[in-house]
Amino acid sequence: MSLAADSKRGPMVGVFDSGFGGLTVLRALLSRIPTANYVYLGDTARLPYGAKSQATIARYAVESARFLEDRGCEYLVIACNTATALALEDIRQAVSVPVLGVIEPGAHAAKRILPEPDGDVLVLATAATVQSHAYREACAAVGLRATEVACPLLVPLVEEGWTDHRVTREVLRIYLSEALAKCAPQAVLLGCTHYPLIAVAIEETLRELGSAAVVIDSAEATAEAASVALGSNHPSGEQETSTIFQCFATDSVEKFQRLGSLFLRQPIEHVHHLDLGG
Ligand code: DGL
Repeated sequence: MSLAADSKRGPMVGVFDSGFGGLTVLRALLSRIPTANYVYLGDTARLPYGAKSQATIARYAVESARFLEDRGCEYLVIACNTATALALEDIRQAVSVPVLGVIEPGAHAAKRILPEPDGDVLVLATAATVQSHAYREACAAVGLRATEVACPLLVPLVEEGWTDHRVTREVLRIYLSEALAKCAPQAVLLGCTHYPLIAVAIEETLRELGSAAVVIDSAEATAEAASVALGSNHPSGEQETSTIFQCFATDSVEKFQRLGSLFLRQPIEHVHHLDLGG
């Protein structure tokens, strides 16, 4: 349900992404912390972030985070891997509310699956995220070895709705066979908001290429970290019908409703347009 935020409910949580992909994180949050109010901002006018410089990504992400804080959000979740990788510290310095990114929870989720020291993780992400080595550092901090591979064609393919298309499968086959020539991972971490939508194709391609690696989606791990931070203890993954969220997009609201519903797996009734400038 997309309604005005209700202050008598739980905390107001801001969720930020460069576009629609972060709705996979919102979906996980809605089921894990159903009593919170959510404000989601997709900076669709300036998407993709994954091919931009650190300075530009930080400027965009800080503007978006300030908007969410000004709307009354008491806790921010940076659902965008690229913004987390390149701008988490800038965002934390720019706002006065706690900020959670997706990378640390993702690394912790991989560690839970690979408890032995020196487990090998393949991280699939945008070019900017890979160049930052944020995943490599987060994985090293929990005793995992990460190989990071940029998959720049996957975001446009998912945005085109080609989640189960032979072209997407062929592109995956090329990326994954090149990656598996460099490492033998036990886990594959989806280090981009869009990849959960092609998780099945990723898993099937891995199997075709002879890899038994477990595919990890950091959206769930991020929602779990947020629920711990917010002291919410919702036991199951079932979303309550009364869950409240508002959506803002910096580009076409019609496109956001259409594509966003795919990522959220439920209709988005209303989207507000927001102009954050260039
Ligand atoms: N949201 C971005 C991420 O998770 C992917 C889309 C983009 O490049 O902006 O890295």
